[in-house]
Amino acid sequence: MTNPATVGITGVAGFIGSHLAERLLAEGRSVVGIDDFSHGSPSNMDTFRDHPNFTFLELDCRDALRVRRTFGDCDALVHLAAEKIPRYGGALKTLQANVAGAESLYEAALALDIPVLVASTSDVYGNATPPFAEDANLTLGPPTTRRWAYATSKLYDEHVALAMAAEQGLKVKIMRFFGSYGPRNNPSWWGGPQAAFFEILLDGKLMEIHGDGRQIRTFTYVSDTVDGVVRTLDCDEAEGEILNIGGEEPTTIYRLAHECQAALGMTGPLRATMVPYEAIGGKYQDVRVRIPDTTKAARMLGFRATVGLAEGLAVTADWHRARRDALETAGLDVASVA
Ligand SMILES: NC(=O)c1ccc[n+]([C@@H]2O[C@H](COP(=O)([O-])OP(=O)(O)OC[C@H]3O[C@@H](n4cnc5c(N)ncnc54)[C@H](O)[C@@H]3O)[C@@H](O)[C@H]2O)c1
Repeated sequence: MTNPATVGITGVAGFIGSHLAERLLAEGRSVVGIDDFSHGSPSNMDTFRDHPNFTFLELDCRDALRVRRTFGDCDALVHLAAEKIPRYGGALKTLQANVAGAESLYEAALALDIPVLVASTSDVYGNATPPFAEDANLTLGPPTTRRWAYATSKLYDEHVALAMAAEQGLKVKIMRFFGSYGPRNNPSWWGGPQAAFFEILLDGKLMEIHGDGRQIRTFTYVSDTVDGVVRTLDCDEAEGEILNIGGEEPTTIYRLAHECQAALGMTGPLRATMVPYEAIGGKYQDVRVRIPDTTKAARMLGFRATVGLAEGLAVTADWHRARRDALETAGLDVASVA
């Protein structure tokens, strides 16, 4: 099959969605994007909003009828819109929004008879045995701990997708992202630890390191994440498959904090405070080690992350500074635009 020429993206004003749209437009493809701006920002689309091959509609992806109509001319869909952190938005909202959003996209893809890529998360592995292979047993904590609502919602989305594929012919490709970061990260914890650390440091405050800081994560610079998405989009063999899209450089959160401080050129002792898990609330549980097994993505997609952590953080740090400078120049309060 030829590569999809017109791609529908939900969450196009968000972090990954805006970078994906930019990449597809640069390749000469057309993009139809929707977003309800619940977490994304119109400014994330500044570089491509007026591109002749880009169409945007402010729309809630749960509105199944309008979603189907809006994406009527698309050759493939990429579903990125989601609620991510129950700690902030609430577990019920996370569960209901992510389930309804995915079902709406699956119905549209079925009706239009086109493939749909769905963004899942490394969080579905919970505390499984690392490195996480796509067919590994999953080890989520109990529903009495609110944080697992996000993983559960995404896992449900995966199950529904695969059941619709088996029973109704849905053409679905499931991507499990690992800690994507870079410019246009939501400038709060919503955007991940890098975004929070940079903004806190630039505010002159102390980074909050949860637990002992020795938890291990594998971060992925956004151009690598997007490369994984585009390769999945263009790979027929990926239909009905789950693929880890992640980096190759595991690091502790403690080291990440050091790297963020260094990327901003701030010297001296680490500007951080340790926050015990009990202080976070929601009977918080952490994932101790999160490392992807990327063998399948390498074999099937030829995917391999190429941007190192220090390199990616340097670009991201510059973006956070530039964003704040621009807000200050415009006379806007940085905190109110976070
Ligand atoms: N960023 C990561 O590291 C990461 C890791 C694992 C999984 N993911 C998944 O990747 C996807 C994209 O993540 P992101 O970091 O770009 O998030 P983001 O919050 O920056 O972008 C999501 C976008 O979706 C929009 N949105 C939310 N609900 C919507 C709705 N009902 N209708 C229309 N638009 C809606 C938001 O306004 C936002 O612009 C999400 O599904 C997320 O769960 C991301």
